[in-house]
Amino acid sequence: MTRVFFDVGMSLDGFVAGPNGGPKNPLGDGGTTIHQWMFKQRAFLQLLKLGDGGDADNPDNDLIEETFNRTGAYIMGRRMFDEGEPNWPEDAPFRSPVFVVTHQRRDPWERKGGTTFFFTSATIQDTLQKATQAARNKDVRISGGADIIQQYLNAGLVDEFTIHVAPLMLRNGVRLFKRLGEGTINIEGVGAMHSPLVVHLKYRVVK
Ligand SMILES: NC(=O)c1ccc[n+]([C@@H]2O[C@H](COP(=O)([O-])OP(=O)(O)OC[C@H]3O[C@@H](n4cnc5c(N)ncnc54)[C@H](OP(=O)(O)O)[C@@H]3O)[C@@H](O)[C@H]2O)c1
Repeated sequence: MTRVFFDVGMSLDGFVAGPNGGPKNPLGDGGTTIHQWMFKQRAFLQLLKLGDGGDADNPDNDLIEETFNRTGAYIMGRRMFDEGEPNWPEDAPFRSPVFVVTHQRRDPWERKGGTTFFFTSATIQDTLQKATQAARNKDVRISGGADIIQQYLNAGLVDEFTIHVAPLMLRNGVRLFKRLGEGTINIEGVGAMHSPLVVHLKYRVVK
């Protein structure tokens, strides 16, 4: 059965990006440090076409591979798309359909290597339905940013999530959980793992 999940890097004080982010400043001021652990992993470098360096024989690398392999479709906010797209290789690192939520109209955009970006202003429920169909029994990843992740969490549509906590205080920027709605969201810890550059925390949403 298709699971809906998100998987993001976050500073210890709760930010997924620093301030002043944009296409020329991906992840904002100081924000790339959140992903420092990923830039040491071969799976990540290969996905971004940054060569065959990095370490392939460690649990951090396995985690990146597992997350990529389980995903059959992605849902992404327009700000993440605008910021990421000029910095991703032409052979974009998704290799699956990506549904970009936006109020701007735009035709689908097919990239080399299996990624097609579909731009949609449908309800988040309808977008999830399309992504689930497109995922063909694999999982749907809500890629981010914070805005779209919170909408899916608030709507009770997220099944599980992983947060990679980086040893860094950003103090300012895009806060992951700034606009959660009223009431409690019950979650259950599923696992925790750490390496020198990051702590991985896995949760399941209790429904
Ligand atoms: N640390 C990590 O792992 C990680 C992961 C992902 C992203 N990020 C960072 O997060 C930042 C972006 O996050 P963000 O919270 O500012 O924005 P976001 O979620 O990426 O995008 C928000 C935009 O998506 C569109 N949108 C949202 N909900 C919609 C809906 N229901 N219907 C139609 N359109 C909708 C709107 O675009 P329009 O204005 O076009 O309508 C809105 O302005 C970036 O800096 C990115 O690098 C970090």
